Amino acid sequence: MRGDLERVLFDEPAIHRRLDEMAAQISNDYRDCELTVIAVLNGSLMFMSDLLRRIPLPLRLDFVSVMSYHGKAQTSGEVIFKQIALPDVVDRHILILDDILDSGHTLAAVREKLEATKPRSIRVCVLLSKKKQRARHVNTDYIAFEIEDEFVVGYGLDFMERYRNLPYIGVLRKELIAESRK
Ligand code: IMP
Ligand code: MG
Repeated sequence: MRGDLERVLFDEPAIHRRLDEMAAQISNDYRDCELTVIAVLNGSLMFMSDLLRRIPLPLRLDFVSVMSYHGKAQTSGEVIFKQIALPDVVDRHILILDDILDSGHTLAAVREKLEATKPRSIRVCVLLSKKKQRARHVNTDYIAFEIEDEFVVGYGLDFMERYRNLPYIGVLRKELIAESRK
């Protein structure tokens, strides 16, 4: 799989160092209130498990499962909730975790849905944020890494459901994306 990457952006030690910093910041920000983490599946899985193990606070964990890509390397704009029942977040301090902020459609939709269920507060935490003009603006409170507008895989991120298990994050070779569109 390494051969399918143009280059590695963040190796395992770099990711873990950054998560140490981010977890310390989150632990400090939520030291006085009980946190409810809502992770967006499937992409945030690795990020969630490595980050949460570094937060020594009592917290609750729940999930939402959405789909927006339909297997291609660009967003369709439509966000489909694969899970019918939303987690109960009434009066809770919630922290949404997602793998990557790209067009903004996914996080804007997730945030809106959760806001409608009346939590006490909402913050958003992403592993990656692409530097680009977004279709929808999303306020983010914690960002592990900002990246250029390139298609990346690994550490939870997929291309057509592959590469999620790579322990590092890298840029996928453009020919592979082009080939899949043929
Ligand atoms: P958005 O709705 O366009 O912001 O995209 C969010 C979702 O698209 C993420 O949760 C990912 O699943 C997927 N995505 C966006 N950019 C990438 C990428 O570079 N690599 C892999 N998945 C991506
Ligand atoms: Mg995906």
